[in-house]
Amino acid sequence: MKIVSTIKELNVHITTAKKANKTIGLVPTMGYLHEGHMALATAARKENDLVVMSLFVNPAQFGPNEDYESYPRDLDRDMRIAEKVGVDFLFAPSTSEMYPTNGGIQILAGPQSEILCGATRFGHFDGVLKVVTKLFHLTRPTNAYFGQKDAQQLAIIETMVRDYNFPIEIRSVPIVREEDGLAKSSRNVFLTDQQRLQAPVIWQALDLATTHYLKYDNDIEATRLAKEHIETNSNGRIDYLQMLSYPDLTEVTEQTEKILLATAVYFGNTRLIDNIIFQRKGD
Ligand code: PAJ
Repeated sequence: MKIVSTIKELNVHITTAKKANKTIGLVPTMGYLHEGHMALATAARKENDLVVMSLFVNPAQFGPNEDYESYPRDLDRDMRIAEKVGVDFLFAPSTSEMYPTNGGIQILAGPQSEILCGATRFGHFDGVLKVVTKLFHLTRPTNAYFGQKDAQQLAIIETMVRDYNFPIEIRSVPIVREEDGLAKSSRNVFLTDQQRLQAPVIWQALDLATTHYLKYDNDIEATRLAKEHIETNSNGRIDYLQMLSYPDLTEVTEQTEKILLATAVYFGNTRLIDNIIFQRKGD
């Protein structure tokens, strides 16, 4: 595995691969790798000649009061993990390499970004699209891998790729969980022992609500039950817990085929997200 920190060097490798007609799989990450990231890289390894993983804590997607400074970082550990899962190039640029100017051009994520996480993380998805667009241009991937863990992010990226004709296949990978159901996340290290013990209530609540909904077709009651489960069994504070049509992220109607049941819950200052995507008719 090669560590690449400049755009110039990355471009040399990508151009060589393109000339040789190699397929390229891109796995964008912010590092502090865990099994969720590894699942994306493993899928990329299976489906491409070359795997590029990016590792960049993207300041553009963090709000002023968010955890950019304290976001966990460990390059040595990440290098070992990336190598183990078969990454060919680990692209780990500095902030000035990625953003040499403040540039006035903006990419706006639109209505899908105004709800769920976007309702409180103002500008977050614009920042995600900014870095993802740059990474797409820099690596010119055949396939790009994103986790269902960030379902809203996935839906927004799929929409941008579709609406603006990016010649890239977006591949989604199911959520990887701990044995007790908690979705793997780089932020889980911030949980205290007691919060970590309680955090599986998130997954339990989503599971409970899905089962109830598929049986009774009542989204209000299903989401109420889920909220109650979290509030009764933990100190978690619910930011949102909502059912929407997926991938358009609009209200569930008779026409809806796929439902996204998504939630964000604070344990102390740590904000955890999770979701389930399921067929409305349960088939
Ligand atoms: P990050 O949080 O590091 O996640 C990188 C990728 O790993 C995302 O596509 C995310 O959905 C996926 N992922 C994280 N936890 C997962 C889990 N438990 N199971 C499956 N996939 C999981 O998401 C970002 O970084 C950034 O926003 C990024 C896309 C890199 C742009 O900066």
